[in-house]
Amino acid sequence: MNTEVYVITDPAAQAEEIGRAAALLRDGEVVAMPTETVYGLAANALDPSAVKKIFEAKGRPQDNPLIVHLASPEELGTVAEEIPPEAYALLRRFSPGPLTLVLKKKDVIPDEVSAGLPTVAVRIPSHPTANALIRAAGVPLAAPSANLSGFPSPTNADDVRDDMTGRVAAILDGGPCDCGIESTVVSLAVSPPRLLRPGVVTAEQLRVFLPDLVIDDAVLHPLKAGAAAASPGMKYRHYAPKANIYIVRGDRDAFFAYVNAHEAQADHLLVFEEDLPFCRLPAVTMGRYDTPLSQTGRLFSALRELDRRGAKTVFAREPEKTGVGLGVCNRLYRAAGFRFLNEKPGIIGVCGQTGAGKSTVCALLAQRGAEIIDTDKIAREVVMPGSPVLTALAEEFGEDILLPDGSLNRRKLAERAFRTPESAKKLSAATHPAICKIALERAQQANAAGKTAVIDAPLLFSAGLDRHCDVTLKVTAPEAERIRRITLRDGITEADAKKRVAAQAEEDRLSDAATHIIKNYPPYDAAAQLEALLLP
Ligand code: TXA
Ligand code: MG
Repeated sequence: MNTEVYVITDPAAQAEEIGRAAALLRDGEVVAMPTETVYGLAANALDPSAVKKIFEAKGRPQDNPLIVHLASPEELGTVAEEIPPEAYALLRRFSPGPLTLVLKKKDVIPDEVSAGLPTVAVRIPSHPTANALIRAAGVPLAAPSANLSGFPSPTNADDVRDDMTGRVAAILDGGPCDCGIESTVVSLAVSPPRLLRPGVVTAEQLRVFLPDLVIDDAVLHPLKAGAAAASPGMKYRHYAPKANIYIVRGDRDAFFAYVNAHEAQADHLLVFEEDLPFCRLPAVTMGRYDTPLSQTGRLFSALRELDRRGAKTVFAREPEKTGVGLGVCNRLYRAAGFRFLNEKPGIIGVCGQTGAGKSTVCALLAQRGAEIIDTDKIAREVVMPGSPVLTALAEEFGEDILLPDGSLNRRKLAERAFRTPESAKKLSAATHPAICKIALERAQQANAAGKTAVIDAPLLFSAGLDRHCDVTLKVTAPEAERIRRITLRDGITEADAKKRVAAQAEEDRLSDAATHIIKNYPPYDAAAQLEALLLP
């Protein structure tokens, strides 16, 4: 496809170029336009086949909905309904400008735009070229950021050319964007209202109008693998450059103490201008630490600059998380894939299907100096002769689960406990709390000794231990491969191996919510996945 480029310095004086771009939009084509936040890829929001072209140009997953751009607040009622009064109050204060509201959608908005949700995200951009284009097209414009899916949002026309030449009908070059990060997204379609994506309009500013505003968990935390996203955009590894970025925690002194001690592991630093005199590695800056507004304009171009320089491993400082800084943090954490270094040692929970290679992963973590806490071993400790758990089990399942010397007859207990799902639950209820308590005590002791604790627990999620972990790893392998491994390792029949796999169905389902999935089968390399996650 031939991509026309129009340089627009004054949209009022360049009605002809704007008119040509608007005609392309009315013909169902895609046009890249500047906005005050980042460049957008616009198409007629009311035309499903035009909207489909946006997804094709970006290579974007179809379940991530698009923002609809309007020329003025009066048009709100054409795309949304049941609009609460706060929506108008917010628009009076912040529009046109970098604020997006999620509202109940009208039927005119096709599923291609809303990704099948009953809501629509709407904003009124303040950029004069975007505004002129929407007016000239005469239709609302659906527009995501104009980057290839997964890459940093473009904040100037060159970045758009890099990603979109040959993929869209036209690019309007309006120079660099003012804000540099995407709009603030607030949902008014839920109660209480929820901040889905922080931006230049801050949570503090919004609370003046929305006192009970909730900040969605996905703003600063990785979405757990199985959880549903309030904003589907939170699901994807967004804003990610090709380089591996690691956030090194702490103030400037702590940052450089860490970086200097681990210098051989990184090739670039991503820092603030004030930090430059302290840098010994090549550094790219993302604005000034003391001026978060200068960071929004620099963040994405800094990420692209690292890629241009061929950076492989980057240590990054983190901004303050208040005001506009929250928006910068949100993008930076995603760009880093939520990898943090120089943190207080924490607790890693490891679970996984039988035969997937949980022990391999734990051994790799032990090699890095972590303390492994084996809950299977604790499970045997808590039923030692005379222990309160053993007494409780004897009361529940019969005195004859005890051998003459007072120790547990495991076979008898298994017979009784695994007879029905209810009796199995009673066994868990009698043993899990004691096992969890000991596991957590040991984890805290390890942390106090300056070590990361790894809780190796086949029932991490069923027992509720996952809630105490900073990171949870689920080790996986295809079922056929696991059955092959178990039969080899334990010398049991395939039928018995299948029974063991089936017994884990519940944990298998719950553990899909692990923060990280480690694939341990060819062609994947579990060690490499751990390295990338936990370096160094
Ligand atoms: O500043 C911006 O908002 C830029 C410019 C071009 O306007 N656009 C932009 O679009 O950032 P995009 O598609 O890259 O991000 C839209 C975000 C995604 O996180 C998406 O999941 C969320 O808004 N979103 C869209 N519709 C939604 C809805 N109905 N409910 C919840 N979240 C929604
Ligand atoms: Mg985007």
